[in-house]
Amino acid sequence: MKTVRIGLLGVGTVGHAVARALLERHDVLSRAAGVSLHLQRAAVRDLTRPRPLAREQLTTDPMAVATASDVDLVVELIGGEEPARALMTAALAAGKPVVTANKRVLAWHGPQLAKLAAQRGVELRCEAAVGGGIPLIAPLTDDLAANRITELRAIINGTCNYVLTRMAQGETLADALAKAQEAGYAEADPKDDLEGVDAADKLCILVRLAFNAACTPAQLHRQGIRGLDPKDLAYGRELGYVLKLLAIARRGPGGAVEARVHPAFLPADHPLARIDGAQNAVHVVGDLCGPVMFSGLGAGGDATASAVLADVVQVARRLALGDPVAPPRDSGPEAPLLPMSQVSTRCYFRLAVDDVPGVFAQITKVLATHEIGLASVIQREPGKLGAAEVVLFTYAAPESALAAAEAELAQLSSTRSVLARIRVESSK
Ligand SMILES: NC(=O)c1ccc[n+]([C@@H]2O[C@H](COP(=O)([O-])OP(=O)(O)OC[C@H]3O[C@@H](n4cnc5c(N)ncnc54)[C@H](OP(=O)(O)O)[C@@H]3O)[C@@H](O)[C@H]2O)c1
Repeated sequence: MKTVRIGLLGVGTVGHAVARALLERHDVLSRAAGVSLHLQRAAVRDLTRPRPLAREQLTTDPMAVATASDVDLVVELIGGEEPARALMTAALAAGKPVVTANKRVLAWHGPQLAKLAAQRGVELRCEAAVGGGIPLIAPLTDDLAANRITELRAIINGTCNYVLTRMAQGETLADALAKAQEAGYAEADPKDDLEGVDAADKLCILVRLAFNAACTPAQLHRQGIRGLDPKDLAYGRELGYVLKLLAIARRGPGGAVEARVHPAFLPADHPLARIDGAQNAVHVVGDLCGPVMFSGLGAGGDATASAVLADVVQVARRLALGDPVAPPRDSGPEAPLLPMSQVSTRCYFRLAVDDVPGVFAQITKVLATHEIGLASVIQREPGKLGAAEVVLFTYAAPESALAAAEAELAQLSSTRSVLARIRVESSK
């Protein structure tokens, strides 16, 4: 094979950067692949927009590209669940390797697509699906293969990290989000980012890879950053913590894997606490390698294209050499997921309470009933509205106990409202 002909599905933010790099870096990429890489044809919705391809290479029929007889390798960059899933399925069924950046399809349909790829003896690669330009999938698959991964904590949504970084400087969530949109870090509809949907999709992919746990995003505990107040970040800072939206996976003592996405306080000396703005980072602990961290640009056309093209080069190289695709690895029995109610964490509560004697006695009684130890307390005198604010940092307790305590704290005669409950992560 002298040329690998690429069919591109989608020429948007990432697809455009991929197409441009294939043209402008043709020599470098072809040398790396050991074969000439040619952008054969591409599918878009709107044929009138300027693209780095000739008009005759473009079509509005993505299925025609996915199954074209003159395409050797399909790069899916349309995004979303459908028609991307159907297009990938058709390409794989037609015996064509697929490279994708599509976390949504992989999170919900990854195992089925991987099975089809294996049946057809072709590759399905997805380096760009998590962490944009950060090499993650290949290191987890290959470089850390000798390790049993014990823990993975990640900042994998740049929009939320940007917003929280600004909230740490005192901005409200609404103001910080408006700035993120102005700077191009947040979509016009940021729902999936703010509600943790995007991070849960990505965590699902990482959990399968790092822990061999079967899961769909629906099985993961998910909580976004809506409702957070800059006051929470300020109180956290007083006690040496930084607030992040974290994707967390950890292997429990019995082998079950906890997997969750939610805002969490991290000790300020943890490497992830220093990841600011739209940056992403994944901190992984292996039993042999210890802690390692991958960080960089989690989004953006060029950064994501870098990861897409790494996959393209790998696939093209194998096609050029005529090498067979390695069969799927034997990863052993799948690990079960630990129910969230059994996950144990430290916790932060912020309460608005009446400024009357005996408030603390009531609060500590509730915590004691649920065997929750109190680590630190901050109390603020009543403000203009007459309510005092009490902040509690607890020791670790099961989620079920923390949730029950929250409900009881809300019912106390002295409590005006439970303003926040945020989990707290430890350094290790
Ligand atoms: N953007 C990032 O920074 C980033 C980072 C990591 C991963 N990703 C992933 O990369 C993928 C692409 O994202 P993106 O930001 O590049 O998306 P995008 O800018 O919205 O581009 C989507 C492209 O697909 C085309 N398209 C959509 N529906 C189509 C259809 N039915 N038939 C033919 N073409 C269709 C669009 O055509 P028109 O141009 O004509 O509208 C556009 O060219 C997604 O899976 C995303 O999650 C993106």
